Amino acid sequence: MRQAGRSLPEYRKVREGVGMLESCLRPDLVTEITMQPVRRYGVDAAILFSDIVLPVKAAGVDLDIKAGVGPVVAEPVRSAADVARLPSLEPDQVAPVAEAIRGLVTELAGTPLIGFAGAPFTLASYLVEGGPSRDHARTKALMYGDEDTWHALAGRLADIAIAYLTVQVDAGVSAVQLFDSWAGSLSAVDYERYVLPHSRRVLESVSNVPRIHFGVDTAELLALMASAGADVVGVDWRVALDAAASRVGPGVALQGNLDPAAVFAPWDAVAERARDVLRRGKAAAGHIFNLGHGVLPDSDPDVLKRLVDFVHEETAGS
Ligand code: CP3
Repeated sequence: MRQAGRSLPEYRKVREGVGMLESCLRPDLVTEITMQPVRRYGVDAAILFSDIVLPVKAAGVDLDIKAGVGPVVAEPVRSAADVARLPSLEPDQVAPVAEAIRGLVTELAGTPLIGFAGAPFTLASYLVEGGPSRDHARTKALMYGDEDTWHALAGRLADIAIAYLTVQVDAGVSAVQLFDSWAGSLSAVDYERYVLPHSRRVLESVSNVPRIHFGVDTAELLALMASAGADVVGVDWRVALDAAASRVGPGVALQGNLDPAAVFAPWDAVAERARDVLRRGKAAAGHIFNLGHGVLPDSDPDVLKRLVDFVHEETAGS
């Protein structure tokens, strides 16, 4: 999850003086930062160090990630003409990512590497709003008021996600995750009409590896997110995994969903809650233990290490 590294002193050290997106295009840094949580925690899979906006930037859109703020776009995309100007992503533009992945696959020696991309709605929100947004009002205004332009925008962002994921799969990632972090701001009816067809096209383009589909606050969307072509649906901490299992239906695994804030509680409470997540996860066709969203920056790495060990002990032999 995003920010897993931010709680690590070794991450802060290698990132000193290097911009976030600049570091994503340096194979040496991508490799080192991807390996850091694997080395320290002994997790069962690595997540590629990158960002959902990296391919949009690499394609030529003027944007940056501001520390403590998030992605910021110089010229927001709000009209049909703005959409028509959006560039497509050529594989060469993310060649350093492919190079890093090839090296990582060797270095990880069998530990799976998860690649990822941003889903069309979440990327569109950054482009239309010009930065992070609580209510996604301008994005929804475009969607509800100018459906053709909305679909053109989402279609172009789907193309970028497909190109970025194809590069990652060709370079050797074992699975991919599609992050639609902010889709939970939509009703199920609107999600199905405006978003699902685009996310489905992205997921269907990478059907040769397992696909994880994640969003925040998606209780009402879980069945639709599964139907988009996901093998695994990522769930935040708001929905118990046994309830989520019945919403996604048979044959779909779940990923999640310890509350990221839980690791700030005394250890006994952390363990109790982690055990509850594992127990409820048994109701699903498969379960990948994870936090329900990104690691909070002030999290104590020692507690995270203890949590990984605890999950391994609890699930040993199963
Ligand atoms: O944690 C990791 O290193 C895994 C790689 C990863 C990053 N971003 C690196 C990152 C992943 C999987 C992402 C995905 C991402 N980026 C999402 C989807 C997942 C989610 O959290 O919902 C989203 C919405 C973004 C956009 C984004 N990038 C935000 C909102 C921020 C936070 C800005 C801040 O400082 O509060 C980022 C920056 C970012 N991306 C950081 C990392 C490690 C932190 C910035 C830094 O270390 O300088």
